[in-house]
Amino acid sequence: MREMFDRIAGRYELLNAVMTAGLYKLWNRKVVRATGLRPGGDALDLACGTGSLTRALAGAVGPTGSVLGVDFSPEMLRAARARPAKNAEYRLGDATDLADVPTGRFDAVTIAYGARNIPDLDGLFAEMNRVLRPGGRAVCLEIARPRGKLSGAFYGLWFDRIVPKVGGLISGDAQAYAYLPQSVKAFVAPDELAVIMGRNGLQNVTWDRLGGGIITLHSGTGSLDGPR
Ligand SMILES: C[S@@+](CC[C@H](N)C(=O)[O-])C[C@H]1O[C@@H](n2cnc3c(N)ncnc32)[C@H](O)[C@@H]1O
Repeated sequence: MREMFDRIAGRYELLNAVMTAGLYKLWNRKVVRATGLRPGGDALDLACGTGSLTRALAGAVGPTGSVLGVDFSPEMLRAARARPAKNAEYRLGDATDLADVPTGRFDAVTIAYGARNIPDLDGLFAEMNRVLRPGGRAVCLEIARPRGKLSGAFYGLWFDRIVPKVGGLISGDAQAYAYLPQSVKAFVAPDELAVIMGRNGLQNVTWDRLGGGIITLHSGTGSLDGPR
């Protein structure tokens, strides 16, 4: 998995822009809004990849705040560091084991298009809750399959057929872009994701669909509760 992300890092953000017709920036802004971050706040962006959401968070907290991006792919981090923001720092690490991050350290913790790639979702959300201050916000953005027949048919054509071809051509890695729709199919349903967040200490978990149903945005509030 890590090697696959290393291989596609160079073209990853370009492909995101192409595959979402630029909408990924709008969805990043929705995540930033859902964090409730203010100037001076501290945020952690897990599975930060090339840092597109990390930079949006850095803009929200401003020069008196800070953002830490964590990813387990050295090449993704290399691409992120090539577009530096003064108040953003990047670190190599596993999102399910943030041993060097103090408990209650952050006002907000985010993960965008990362949870789907992480088998241990309990470990992920337990860590997100642990490093959040009580009352801070955890936000998870993911790709989903839309419910409507028409949108489902369009999505099937675009996401299951065109994206793997275009992704394979532009990135030079057909395997990675065949994995993308498979990983969305294999991922837990949005209701179940909310349950997993809740049983790992996050409170008042809510979720919404964006982009006509192809994106889900889950959020919850940090608490001192541990996993149940
Ligand atoms: C689809 S990309 C998303 C990147 C970025 N969040 C974005 O919005 O574009 C998924 C990222 O998750 C990272 N990743 C997957 N599993 C991880 C783990 N267990 N710990 C840290 N990063 C992980 C990959 O290296 C990759 O950069």
